Amino acid sequence: MRARVVVLVSGGGTNLQALIDAPQQAFDIVGVISDRPDAAGLDRAAAAGIPTAVVPPSASPDRAAWDRDLARTIASFDPAWIVCAGFMRILGAAVIEAFPMRIVNTHPALLPAFPGAHGVRDALDYGVRVTGCTVHLVDAGVDTGPILGQRAIDIRDGEGEDAVHERIKVVERELLVDIVTRLCTQGCTVHGRKVTIP
Ligand code: GRF
Repeated sequence: MRARVVVLVSGGGTNLQALIDAPQQAFDIVGVISDRPDAAGLDRAAAAGIPTAVVPPSASPDRAAWDRDLARTIASFDPAWIVCAGFMRILGAAVIEAFPMRIVNTHPALLPAFPGAHGVRDALDYGVRVTGCTVHLVDAGVDTGPILGQRAIDIRDGEGEDAVHERIKVVERELLVDIVTRLCTQGCTVHGRKVTIP
């Protein structure tokens, strides 16, 4: 039986598209949720016939209520795994506690370096010569959960943030599809910070 996956997006959704187009479908994307009604990822989902939902913070009275609304919306799709694919909000306790070690995030830097919303820019500003992406399980911190996989790219002289981010996204999409496929077929065991996908 294919695992049920819910994907959370805020933007263009090319990582979502890679999951939709995954060659060996080990999973069914049963829902795509966004915090933004204008997220292009919602159009990609609709084009693929995947149900969508929008949970904008403005529709909830406060942050804790939004967390609960988001947790409820995710749960309504009954997912085995939740994938944050360019979801630009921090998940609160209501979501994380409802799906412990079941939420995957992809981040455009080599964690634990450069967590947060500007991983690509922060890496460039620091002057690193190698950066990349990290796919990890989500815990209560910001980009701090156990690491599932990483891919690195060299930074070229004179290259700007957008160009570096586009090159990261090429390897990021491949890595995300590979890890979600393996999680959905084999699961994983977590011991502290160490994750094993058998
Ligand atoms: C990815 O690089 C992700 O790591 C970052 O935002 C980007 C989203 O790209 N948080 P897309 O929306 O999947 O094209």
